Amino acid sequence: MLTFNVFINFIFGIFLCTMENLSKIYFVALAIFITNLFAHSQTIIRGPYLQSPTENTIVIKWRTDVASNSKVIFGTSLSNLNLTASDNSINTEHTVTLTNLLPATTYYYQVGNSTSLLTTSSESYRFKTNPIPGVAVPTRVWAIGDFGKGNTEQIAVKNSYMNYDDSSKTGVWIWLGDNVYNDGTDQEYQQKLFQLNGFSDVFTWMPFWPSPGNHDYNTVWEESAFFGIPYSNIDFEDHKGPYFDMVHVPTQAEAGGYPSQYELFYSFDYGDVHFLSLNSEVYDFTQTFSGINQMKQWIEQDLMQNTRTFTIAYFHQPPYSKGSHDSDDPQELVMKAMRDRVVPLLEDYDIDLVIGGHSHVFERSKLIHGHYGNSFSFDPTTMMKDSTNGNYSQGNAYRKDGLNSTPDGTVYVVCGNSGSREDAPSLNYPIMEFVDGGDQACGSFIMDIYKNRLDGKYLHMNGTIMDEFTILKSNLEVQVPDVYICEGEDVTLSPIMSGGSDNVHFQWSINNQISTSILVGTQNYGTHSLTVSDSLTGQIVTQSFTVAQGNSMQVQQVNDTLFASGASNYQWYLDGNLIVGANQSFFVPTLSGMYGVSTYFGTCQSNELSVNVDLNVTENAVKGITIYPNPTTDELNILVTDNYLGKNYQIFNTNGAVVKTGKIESIKTQFSVAGLAKGSYSIKIADLDQVIKFVKK
Ligand SMILES: [Fe+2]
Repeated sequence: MLTFNVFINFIFGIFLCTMENLSKIYFVALAIFITNLFAHSQTIIRGPYLQSPTENTIVIKWRTDVASNSKVIFGTSLSNLNLTASDNSINTEHTVTLTNLLPATTYYYQVGNSTSLLTTSSESYRFKTNPIPGVAVPTRVWAIGDFGKGNTEQIAVKNSYMNYDDSSKTGVWIWLGDNVYNDGTDQEYQQKLFQLNGFSDVFTWMPFWPSPGNHDYNTVWEESAFFGIPYSNIDFEDHKGPYFDMVHVPTQAEAGGYPSQYELFYSFDYGDVHFLSLNSEVYDFTQTFSGINQMKQWIEQDLMQNTRTFTIAYFHQPPYSKGSHDSDDPQELVMKAMRDRVVPLLEDYDIDLVIGGHSHVFERSKLIHGHYGNSFSFDPTTMMKDSTNGNYSQGNAYRKDGLNSTPDGTVYVVCGNSGSREDAPSLNYPIMEFVDGGDQACGSFIMDIYKNRLDGKYLHMNGTIMDEFTILKSNLEVQVPDVYICEGEDVTLSPIMSGGSDNVHFQWSINNQISTSILVGTQNYGTHSLTVSDSLTGQIVTQSFTVAQGNSMQVQQVNDTLFASGASNYQWYLDGNLIVGANQSFFVPTLSGMYGVSTYFGTCQSNELSVNVDLNVTENAVKGITIYPNPTTDELNILVTDNYLGKNYQIFNTNGAVVKTGKIESIKTQFSVAGLAKGSYSIKIADLDQVIKFVKK
């Protein structure tokens, strides 16, 4: 890498300096040397590629031929990359995390070092941040397995996906393992992924969520295991190699889920979908199952906290296959262990979809539950939850309820043919609904997910969708609160809803009204109902509610807080004067007087309570606190003793509304009151049951 030009500059740098200061000579020469290295010969040889996107962060990685520091410039407009993230360490492997990003937003970026950029301005250098977790958005997932052979099929599979519909819709790209052949070496990752013409062009804009396969692990075992013996029982921290050097996946639940601590397996959210990337290679032939048990402990923690509508798990060696691997084969101990040790746990939490690779075919099951033995042990009468093909356009779909606590079936997919294939597989596993294998059978698996619908599709490399199935969730929930209405009052009632599709219909029992909300008044006293139907799933939910007379409003004082009951819309007042903005069912008084509540619209009144807040004190009466000047016009100073440091303060107007908050950061706190209206105000410091009054002139 040392060009002649660089070398001459290095010598010239030494020559320029005097002999009086040797360290200065060295520094100047080295600076010129490094500057020339960056300027003349640094080239990107891997990436840039994208890892671990969340709603507000992303990791950008790249590799250069010579070491330098790292810098990314980025922004929401290709012509204005006005933001910067950098790393000062000198490396050939560059990892820069971008933070404080906006959710569901497209950014453009360029990478380089502190002196120059190594990429050009191009739409290819872009990414879209994830949606806000828990919010359902149309989500496309692309899954490929056993692809990294550097062959024409691998490229054809990728091209077929790019040509299908609109590949820019891709939210999640998952790797099912055996990501490169034959041994998962660094050179193979370079040749068969990052530098493979016809395949490598997606890395700059499509983040991937990997899982490792046995071929990725050949080098992991070589570097980590005792004498390189695969599937020996080695600690998780000792799983090392090019696969783990390449990936940057969440270990601390940065993208949702539960912290896995290790990059071996992890979970993440994308909108309202939860993903678990598992690791079948933690199996060990010493039969301690310590690796699998450790992974299962994490799976249980992860699934216990999961509330997303759909949950998908993927790992390399599938539980059921009759392709290039036969899960009934006594030698397939990893497939067996995943089937009889991991799958029961996943099904306990009602996992929706389990995707694997390893077998160089495509296989897609019907909706099943409870099949943990060999294929001959499959009992359709108890284990088959839906024997149709699940094709929605043909009138079928796999239907599930919305509860993760009541397992009602899982679809299993094997997609180990995204670059690999098998000539004459038997493909006769009894649970499978659709299979594809043979010397022309390469493809990938696509999921389109939105709200309570998941569509799975097998895309052949020739561009044909050969299989489609749908999972629907009857997860609609409706609540209508009871209301109390006073004479002269009308209340608009709206249901509180979750789940369901975009296609829901409302029918109220009052006047058979069809609308999302309804206006009720005193003429509607009685019990009524709302029926909501989801025309996607056919689910119908009826919820009853009561419209009652609100003539018994009550105000009670509990400690410092007043609570009201007996109405739907509250308005607090003090000494007969309405308190602006005080419309909750509770109120914390800061001034003494007679408190009561009326309904917001109507004429109902509550009892009145006399509250003596005992806050009419001056600054001199509060030990350790002085405010000045008082009255004031522009600025106010608070002087406190040490015991008040770090406490929050609130400033109230005479209506009891909070007009300013802050924290006592030092013995003297100064702030502006120029924006406040003229009048009296009270300052309340946390934990102090007195206020200090001041006047704004
Ligand atoms: Fe494999």
